[in-house]
Amino acid sequence: MTRLRVGCVGTGFIAGRHLAALASFPDVDVVAVADAVPDRADAAAARFGARGYHDGVALLESEELDAVWLCVPPFAHGPLEQAAVDRSLPFFVEKPLAHDLATAVGIAESVRARGLPTAVGYHWRHLGVVREAERVLAGSPAQLLLGYWLDATPAAPWWSDRARSGGQVLEQTTHIFDLARVLVGEVDVVHSAEAGARAGAPGRDVPVAATTVLRFSSGAVGSISCTRLLGRRHRVGVQLLADGIAVELGERSLTDHDLRVAGGDGERVVTSGQDPVADEDREFLDVLRGLVPRARVPYAEAVRTHALAWAADRSARDGEPVCMPLGGNDD
Ligand SMILES: NC(=O)c1ccc[n+]([C@@H]2O[C@H](COP(=O)([O-])OP(=O)(O)OC[C@H]3O[C@@H](n4cnc5c(N)ncnc54)[C@H](O)[C@@H]3O)[C@@H](O)[C@H]2O)c1
Repeated sequence: MTRLRVGCVGTGFIAGRHLAALASFPDVDVVAVADAVPDRADAAAARFGARGYHDGVALLESEELDAVWLCVPPFAHGPLEQAAVDRSLPFFVEKPLAHDLATAVGIAESVRARGLPTAVGYHWRHLGVVREAERVLAGSPAQLLLGYWLDATPAAPWWSDRARSGGQVLEQTTHIFDLARVLVGEVDVVHSAEAGARAGAPGRDVPVAATTVLRFSSGAVGSISCTRLLGRRHRVGVQLLADGIAVELGERSLTDHDLRVAGGDGERVVTSGQDPVADEDREFLDVLRGLVPRARVPYAEAVRTHALAWAADRSARDGEPVCMPLGGNDD
């Protein structure tokens, strides 16, 4: 079997998870890594026996690869994806797609025009417990969704700067907006409010809390709330209420999820130790090998979730409801 040659741009927390998974597959060679912080690039290069670059675009212009993993913070998206598109290089990219909407919409169009295979790290979609929740709700659609991301403030220096991270709604809670689309369907209107945005010093201005009311095309309603005020992760997940059924999905860590289904005949709990990061990586490699027609979450699908989270954040900033899908002048 020919081996797939892959690279990775960004060598921080989530890149470490992807690189460990990629290096564990028998048919993959991690040949190049890049990070804007030279010591990080050099350390990852030594660890994975790869060439190290201090500039991701230089990696993309120099290496002959089968695919690249883009694991950079929200503000760094755009030039890397465009360099991959220019070389017709398939890419996996971590969520969120960007710190804004315009960058993601532009890349989506370039990817579409080139017909490029892509995948995006909305890892919940790879979980068996999420598919089980879909099965349960198929016979009894959710009428109410309650989503939450109640957590500490992440330590990465870029995270607390709203201009660089996009803020908690776009950066973290986007996973919950994605689950809402998967489990309830498309959204017609969002209306949000936020707390504490003006209290922060420059560069530390992510709101301490935000909440969004959603009206789905199906007629269902929901709310998604987030806070970064806590000392540690409290609760991340979603509850779905249907006729006679309550479904709850929760995440304690990337490899620790559970599903609770409560109905007339009692409650059952399914605990998942699945590693969805390794699974999404394997799926994309199988797309490259022609074994799977397309990734579960290609760029064109992820941009819909990104637009929804962006609309929720825009609504919180402006204090006005936002109708979906968005029009053509989103900045
Ligand atoms: N799917 C998930 O559940 C999940 C979990 C964690 C992080 N993420 C996402 O992954 C992204 C990165 O998060 P992280 O926790 O790994 O952050 P991190 O800060 O630990 O790592 C990011 C790395 O990218 C490097 N970098 C920044 N700009 C660069 C550029 N232009 N070129 C090359 N390298 C650059 C930084 O120096 C840093 O080493 C974020 O968008 C985050 O939302 C997703």
